Amino acid sequence: MRELLLAAALVAAGVPGAHAAGDAGRGARVHERCLGCHGTELYAPGRAKVRSLAALKREVERWNAGYNPKLTAQEIDDLVAYLNRDFYRFAP
Ligand code: HEC
Repeated sequence: MRELLLAAALVAAGVPGAHAAGDAGRGARVHERCLGCHGTELYAPGRAKVRSLAALKREVERWNAGYNPKLTAQEIDDLVAYLNRDFYRFAP
């Protein structure tokens, strides 16, 4: 529990490297659940509206709001790592 609170505090503070906890390989598998509404074409340069790593995380959290059961904080970090590695490529 203390680790969770610490991780949440780091993310909230926007500490650089806080996203390093995300695993892109796992994120790719979690992302299969997101494919009901759209594919990865939304993330393509020119089409994508998200402009920063922080905005990308907010976007993933926004979609998670509709999920039941919810994605875990780890799954969200994994998704962000995957989306950033394969599509957005924001600097950390
Ligand atoms: C209920 C349908 C639905 C589900 C489920 C869904 N999305 Fe989306 N998503 C959308 C729509 C609609 C948009 C907005 C399209 C637009 O901006 O024109 C969007 C936009 C996005 C964007 C922003 C793309 C950009 O840069 O413009 C991201 C990132 C994204 N979704 C990720 C996810 C992830 C990750 C999941 C799974 C956790 C997910 N979505 C699940 C419907 C959905």
